[in-house]
Amino acid sequence: MSKRRSEAAVATPRNKKGKDELNPIPGNGINPSMCNGTGKEEIKDPSCDPENPVKITFQDVSAAAYKIKDGIHRSPCIKSRMSAMLDMDIYFKKEFLQFTGSFKERGARYALSQLPNDQKKIGVIAASAGNHALALSYHGQCLDIPVTVVMPLIAPMMKVQACRSYGANVIIQGNDISESKVYAQKMGKEKGYIYINGYDHPHILAGQGTMGLEIIEQVPDVDAVVIPVGGGGLIAGAALALKNLKPSVQIIGVESERCASFSEALKAGKPVRTDVSSTIADGLAVPTVGVNAFVTAKDLVDKMVIVKEEYIALAILRLVELEKAIVEGAGATGLAAILEGMLPELTGKKVVVALCGGNIDTTALGRVIERGLAADGRLIRFVITVSDRPGGIAELTKLLADMGVSIKDIFHERAWLKSDIFSVQVKCVVEARDKAHSEELEAALRKRYNQVAWLPKYF
Ligand SMILES: Cc1ncc(COP(=O)(O)O)c(C=O)c1O
Repeated sequence: MSKRRSEAAVATPRNKKGKDELNPIPGNGINPSMCNGTGKEEIKDPSCDPENPVKITFQDVSAAAYKIKDGIHRSPCIKSRMSAMLDMDIYFKKEFLQFTGSFKERGARYALSQLPNDQKKIGVIAASAGNHALALSYHGQCLDIPVTVVMPLIAPMMKVQACRSYGANVIIQGNDISESKVYAQKMGKEKGYIYINGYDHPHILAGQGTMGLEIIEQVPDVDAVVIPVGGGGLIAGAALALKNLKPSVQIIGVESERCASFSEALKAGKPVRTDVSSTIADGLAVPTVGVNAFVTAKDLVDKMVIVKEEYIALAILRLVELEKAIVEGAGATGLAAILEGMLPELTGKKVVVALCGGNIDTTALGRVIERGLAADGRLIRFVITVSDRPGGIAELTKLLADMGVSIKDIFHERAWLKSDIFSVQVKCVVEARDKAHSEELEAALRKRYNQVAWLPKYF
């Protein structure tokens, strides 16, 4: 593999020819009317033009499949042991097993391979906090194409380091991804790098669509496919492939309650800026869906559902425990929708759920698992008033031990109590086997003690 050029070395003048119609060389004009919500000017991206959105075709996806077949894993799509528990034949499409941990490699590989030869020497630029940056960096290295990624200050250090290890020029710039994007587009214009939008460039959509082709080959009699939605690139490409090969297949998109931008776009009839707040599914936190993605996907998606954060945490926990799979929040939202009971029509059906990414920080995984345990009724908090005489707390801990409940945390206080001064208030965090076990515990405590407060979940 040849050594990556330095940023200065690739700062050659822009090629103005742009032979490929899906991949025109970006225009140069800053369009002051295009505001990204940060108050900063955004440079118009001709590949993602709201005035001329591109609806990709099935042929584009087929061409992408041929082109990327040697660079991408055909990820397994196998029946899950959760099928019996959930009353449906569930198949997981395990895209988190791609080399950099997500489906984003499909689009990145195809977009890079479609660059005109002179642009392959100059290189590309993208703004991303995660999976798109990893995918582009890795495939840039494989194909010997210089890649610059602009990552926001909040980008996880692990991902920043991984991009660097793939030889990308990594620039940390911007408080959030919108600010990184403004910077990346400006730099792309100055240096002649093509800007590759990770969820809306037409080649990205076509590349992501190859996941849909594989699903039909792997589970030909599939009834429904459940796909997480961020900027909409994955669902656009995959739905196009799936509906072309099997028109009866149901396409279900899933978003987090904290970034429901595709559902908002469907209501408005066009991409609209939507409020986004911090979510476990950070890969889906895109305030405005892509214009090409929207126009391609809008008539192919049969249903959109919005899931609660606690079910995303629960889905991650179930995947760790039952599937032995580490899946990030964005990748687990499809299963979250099923666990939350939002897709009752799929009972008894053959359903493919895309587990599209596995890049979750180990520390975040620990926290999410705790939340999943809380959502599952297995991690419980309660406050109880017990006797402050010798043996009062011992009696409580004996009751817990006799029931097989394990104490995670215990804290007691006296000063703020209003009741009898020979009482003490004890706050406990305990672990039970399952929801039924925690209900048994609650009943036993209420039977023995007068003051028991069962604390609600945090979410
Ligand atoms: C793991 C994962 N799943 C799903 C998505 C959503 O893909 P899209 O933005 O194409 O809708 C992303 C986007 O980054 C992702 O990282």
